[in-house]
Amino acid sequence: MTILVTGGAGYIGSHTCVELLSAGFEVIILDNFVNSHPEVISRIEKITGKGLAVINGDVRDQALVEECLKKYSCTAVMHFAGLKAVGDSVKNPLAYYDNNFVGTHRLLLAMQNCGVEKIVFSSSATVYGEPQYLPITEDHPLTATNPYGRSKLFIEEMLRDFHHANPSWKIALLRYFNPAGAHESGLIGEDPMGLPNNLMPYIAQVATGRREYLSIWGNDYATHDGTGVRDYIHVVDLALGHLKALQQLNSSKSLCLNLGAGIGYSVLDIVHTFEKTSGKKIPYQIDKRRFGDIAVCYADPTLARESLDWVARRDLVAICKDHWRWQKQNPEGYA
Ligand code: NAD
Ligand code: UFG
Repeated sequence: MTILVTGGAGYIGSHTCVELLSAGFEVIILDNFVNSHPEVISRIEKITGKGLAVINGDVRDQALVEECLKKYSCTAVMHFAGLKAVGDSVKNPLAYYDNNFVGTHRLLLAMQNCGVEKIVFSSSATVYGEPQYLPITEDHPLTATNPYGRSKLFIEEMLRDFHHANPSWKIALLRYFNPAGAHESGLIGEDPMGLPNNLMPYIAQVATGRREYLSIWGNDYATHDGTGVRDYIHVVDLALGHLKALQQLNSSKSLCLNLGAGIGYSVLDIVHTFEKTSGKKIPYQIDKRRFGDIAVCYADPTLARESLDWVARRDLVAICKDHWRWQKQNPEGYA
């Protein structure tokens, strides 16, 4: 079976390509490299010992997507391509609606024209907004607090409407919590362009000396140490969740699932675990809260366990160890 992986050169996409290839799937990556580096391709090939096709192009280019789907006889699509920086989405909302929403719309048209009826979509815990209860189950009310989140929510709604009209389609909406860590080879990992927005890559860059210190955004939340609590999930577990979701779509029904570990860790928990596993001191200073941040967010991952027989197996120590190995081996990322 051949899978078209949009955004397959990115952080989560590249780890998923490794798992797809290792499980015997053929993989075609479609990526415009707006937030990734072509070097990742040879790293995926090195880890798996397998080759893959790469198309340098945009998911919004419907004719190109149709050409790929036909040329390689793809049977399903894993759709990672999109922009993901919350702050940037507030400044450039149209870029997010265009890349994320219009991109998915064109992709669906291309798939429909080619008779490809299976899609796994990268959604996000951001569609839950400020949690009304914890842990968050999939039937938690949906809302969004920024253009990035709204683009994900609108795509989910479009996919639900589309599925209602086309019940033969198999659609998986996977709501990720906080992906972190890297492949244990240290060959692929997260390589943010410019200043990292997310906690783990920022800490890793402090550890290599590329950044002087970590700013902790707020220590006055109602959490065990006052810092924000999140559900960190190892990127390899996340990739394996995609593989299981795809296999499930092949055999039965559509899915809407949380992919999280179900455990909340604070910013200081992460700093201390990273220090222990890396042997590096992470200097930090307490700053004011980041606008739009919530205090606590973690998943109830029961539905994923029941429907996919999937659980996040790698713990916080493994996340920190693997993230550090990648950063240490590649202090400047792929460049
Ligand atoms: P990433 O930026 O590393 O990967 C996205 C990839 O898509 C990049 O390689 C980029 O070059 C490519 N891309 C972007 N726009 C494109 C377009 N129009 N055409 C073709 N390629 C395009 O991000 P990631 O962390 O791997 O995230 C993958 C997906 O998961 C995204 O949709 C993101 O919104 C979603 N997600 C990520 C997180 C997270 O914290 N990393 C959390 C929840 C959901
Ligand atoms: N944080 C800091 N300093 C930093 C970076 C982060 O203190 O330099 C704190 C944040 O305030 C928060 C925690 O670390 O308490 C995690 O922040 P991230 O930016 O790493 O992650 P978020 O939970 O804010 O957001 C991530 C993705 C979103 C996605 C969301 C839910 O960036 O795209 O998870 O999946 F929507």
